[in-house]
Amino acid sequence: MRRLAVLTSGGDAPGMNAAIRAVVEEGLHHNIEVIGVQQGYKGLVEGNFRPLGINSVSQAIRRGGTILYSARFPEFSQLSVQEKAVQVMEENGIEGLIAIGGDGTFRGALALTKLGFPAVGIPATIDNDIPGTEYTIGFDSAFSAATTAIDMISDTAASHNRTFVVEVMGHNAGDIAIWAGVAVGADAIIIPEEEYFMGDIARRVRTSRKHGKDHGLIILAEGVMGVEDFVAAYSEEAPEQDVRGVNLSHIQRGGSPTGRDRVFATLMGAKSVDLILHGQSGIYVGIIGEELAVFDMIDTLASSKHKVRDDLFELNQALTDRY
Ligand code: F6P
Repeated sequence: MRRLAVLTSGGDAPGMNAAIRAVVEEGLHHNIEVIGVQQGYKGLVEGNFRPLGINSVSQAIRRGGTILYSARFPEFSQLSVQEKAVQVMEENGIEGLIAIGGDGTFRGALALTKLGFPAVGIPATIDNDIPGTEYTIGFDSAFSAATTAIDMISDTAASHNRTFVVEVMGHNAGDIAIWAGVAVGADAIIIPEEEYFMGDIARRVRTSRKHGKDHGLIILAEGVMGVEDFVAAYSEEAPEQDVRGVNLSHIQRGGSPTGRDRVFATLMGAKSVDLILHGQSGIYVGIIGEELAVFDMIDTLASSKHKVRDDLFELNQALTDRY
């Protein structure tokens, strides 16, 4: 193999650039040319390519977002569009693809594999919702950004003895809500994976206020409902509380990646190149514990569910269940 392509697709995630940089550096280490595909699968079909060298990636490790841009491109589910992508890559002498992104990105990579084109995935999404791996690039940065933002909100919440409901991202997964919720000592964490009762949430906030806490904090995962609807329903249940709602929205997807995201992205980026050079395809590189692990994309995409950390959720429930 002489020439590899790398792309990022789906929602951007801090650390994607660190993975791109590792792919380029590992490629150079093996004397392979790495071509950057701009705007994900859309750019692949359009031949929107640019060569990547050390000069284009050396500073990228500390930058959020993706230097290759990203796009959502549902048309890539069509066979004719996938075949066109293979044709464009072959015309450009590209012999393999590293695809960085979430499950939609893996679906695209798997389709190329089925057409006989080598493709390997790297999991990158702030939602942490890919079955198999315990870790996806961007999650650590996103939950840390959410934690910082909620800490700021806590200052003003405490000054006015208010209850704040903070909506965080996560698509249909509660990971950001659980981790940020534990990190800020939330009174309640509301996630799609667990039932909740407004009366019980109000009781938790009330009892913590009774024991001297000067504000209330409820962390709401976006997959449950929007913060405005939640605040309306909660205020009926707790009319004595002065309640405000905040949606952290895309703030938590931006910014410089954490050291942890950079390190794991670097590990996975380098490994993906080694695997594709050894003839592997239709797989993705993930993390179990602190170690690299390799997963089959077919199994991953067929598997119904990513699992959230129930133990952390239960711990927070226990800590906030006061009398
Ligand atoms: O998948 C990442 C994510 O940020 C989700 O948490 C969120 O639901 C979605 O993307 C938002 O997408 P967009 O930026 O296209 O509005």
